Formats: sequence, structure tokens, C-alpha cells
Amino acid sequence: MVKEKCVLAYSGGLDTSVCIKYLEIIHNLDVITVTVDCGQNEDLRKIESRAMEIGSLKHYNINAIPEFAENYITRCIKANGLYQNKYPLATALARPLIAKNVVEIANKENANFISHGCTGKGNDQIRFDITIRSLNPNLRIIAPIRDLNLTRDKEIQFAKENNIPINTEVKKYSIDENLWGRSIEGGELENPYTEPPPECFKYVKLDNPEVGYLEIKFEDGIPVRVDGNKMELVELINYLNSKVGAHGVGIIDHMEDRVIGIKSREIYESPAASILIEAHQDLEKLVLTSHELRFKHLVDQQWSWMAYSGLWQDPLMYDLDKFIDATQTRVTGMVKIRLQNGSMRVVGRRSDFSLYNNALATYSSDSVFDQTLAKGFVEFWGLQSITAKSLAITLNKKENKGEEQ
Ligand code: ARG
Repeated sequence: MVKEKCVLAYSGGLDTSVCIKYLEIIHNLDVITVTVDCGQNEDLRKIESRAMEIGSLKHYNINAIPEFAENYITRCIKANGLYQNKYPLATALARPLIAKNVVEIANKENANFISHGCTGKGNDQIRFDITIRSLNPNLRIIAPIRDLNLTRDKEIQFAKENNIPINTEVKKYSIDENLWGRSIEGGELENPYTEPPPECFKYVKLDNPEVGYLEIKFEDGIPVRVDGNKMELVELINYLNSKVGAHGVGIIDHMEDRVIGIKSREIYESPAASILIEAHQDLEKLVLTSHELRFKHLVDQQWSWMAYSGLWQDPLMYDLDKFIDATQTRVTGMVKIRLQNGSMRVVGRRSDFSLYNNALATYSSDSVFDQTLAKGFVEFWGLQSITAKSLAITLNKKENKGEEQ
């Protein structure tokens, strides 16, 4: 009898390696593996041969780095995407992209089943499942680690029993890496009071006292030039990860609320993402009106929440992006940043669309602002607040008198 096909999102790690065998043994399926490269800097050929060795019938390696930069990271920069004002969403952004690519292979292979290695405790299952079901509702999702309530120990035991090659050296941390950043969890980091040791980090060098400067040019909200050199976004991010990281900038230590309700301690390393969002946000403050800024801040927060919580395919995401794009046509200009020993500070910004008017702002006698007009403005601006406050004082006095009698 011909077996049915299942396409598995395969990273090469323990979870997804165990999945290959589970799908084969427990579900009696033919397994096709897909590794989607979002910039995780791993040897795809090694991953492919591991998949085939364990029992995959066919393997696909997909280079999704350009697509990641173009359709995901650019949107994150324009939206100043930070979950809970901290996390630049590296893992969160890659999941819908991986899911989309795996669905495309499943369609091509006429598979009825699709699988991923997510646990039932995290956000990634949400991002995978919702993207898959939005793009092809006919695919049946199998998530062996979640479905069988597997723990790491059980997985290792199963791997040994089934001759699945696993790294014998026990990994200290659970790390998810892509072009936009690294997410580091587990081990001693599960104690929120324990400081992450330097060995967690790949780009960020601690204790470098040197001062460095960066100049980033944005066009329509997108960074296009750094330190005078025009670069494609992928190259630009790689350049910033090493330059900014060398000055100790880009570590985020975050108490995070997962969608599922668990609070978790997360360490992120994302020098490029951190600096680009900081610079972009600063430039917006130069060129957008205060009304635009106030409203866009709400939109940005909603955007970040939707991206974090797996709702990348929701129509609202498209609507928010339309608004965000409309604001970005003036986010063109230059931002200068000073880096030193773990700190980053914007020290200059300029733009042809700048709303800053020196003749209005200056305290010198060159000022063209007629301050005598301000008196009337203040009078009206505080009108309701002042009335409400004096009413409250009056009522309060009456009440107090009443009590005394
Ligand atoms: N908490 C982050 C998120 O939900 C990162 C998860 C990272 N996963 C990992 N295996 N380290 O996006």
C-alpha cells in the first residue's frame, strides 16, 4: 500500500530529528523534509544528510534570506517592531516565513500532512499552525513533540533507541538564530536573577572601551546606506551585527509574556535590529507630525503584538502595513549614532523632510516665534482641566463641612 506523504519543517536539531522517526513509526507516513534558511548560519548540506540518514525520503533546502529581508524585516523596521517595547521579534518573524515555504512544498508534493517540531509551551506552535491553516486549510498538522507531550529526556531516549544521530555534547542553551537576531533560552538562564555569561553571545563583545560612530541613511523608512556605503539590506544587517556588536550593543534581557500565558526569561542578541529600530524611530520624530507619531505608536504596538502572537496572515496586518507605508514616504534622511561600551545614543539626525524649524525653536534673538501669543493659547488649553479641578476643590470643601456638622 502506498503511504501518505508528510512534509516536515526540519531544522536539524533534536526535536525535528525525533519527528522524522515518529512520523514514520507512529503515523506510518513517508517523510519529506524541508530546511528553510532565514540566516541561521548552519551547514545546510550537513542538515540534509542528517535528515536522509534518519529516514527522510527527500529533502529540500530553501534559501529564504532575501525574502526574509524584503518582506518581513523591512516591515518590522517601518513598524518599529518591538514586542513589549523590547524584543525585535527575530524568531517571531521567521516562523510565518518558514511555514509558508513548507506549505508550498507540501502543495507541490501533494502531501496531506504537514509537521513541525514545536512544543506545546511556546509561541512558535501558534505561528506555525495559524500560518499553515490560513494558507492551506486542507493540510493536517502533526506536531509530535506537543501531541505526545514529549520532554527532552524522553526525546533523547527515543533517539538512542532508534539510532537517531544526536549531538552527544548536551547543548547548554536553546538557541534560535536568524538574520534579525538570536534568541537564547534555557539552562541557567531559566533563573531570572542569573546574569547571562559572555559565552551566550556571538556578536556582542563586552568591555570594549573604544568609541565608535555610525551613520545610517534611510529612504522611505528603509536603511540603504551605512557609513557612506550603499548596501543591500542583508549585507547591511550583517555589517551592523558585527560593528555594533563589537561595541557591546545589542543584548536584550527580557521578562516576556508568551501568548500561552507563561512568563519566560528571554535573552536576545540583536545588534543590527536594535540599532536600526532606534535610528528609525528617531528619524520619524524629526519628520512626522506629533499627531502622526501619537497614532503611529498605537499602530506599531498593535503590529508588534500581531507579529508576536502568530497573526501574520490576518487582514489587519495588511491594513496596518498600508497605514505604516503611507507614513514612511517622508522617513528619508540620515541618523548619526555614537557607540561605546554597551551603549548606543543617537547624536545627530537630518532630513529634507525635517519639521524642525530653528527659527521657531531657538532661544536666541533670531527667533521668529511671537511668544506673546502663547498666553492666550495656554488660557484655552487648560480650560477644562482648571474648571474640573476647581469644581472638585469646591465640592470637597462642602463635603468636609457637611461631615463636621
Ligand atoms: N520568546 C521568543 C519568541 O517567542 C523566542 C523563542 C525562541 N526559541 C528558542 N528555541 N530559543 O519569539
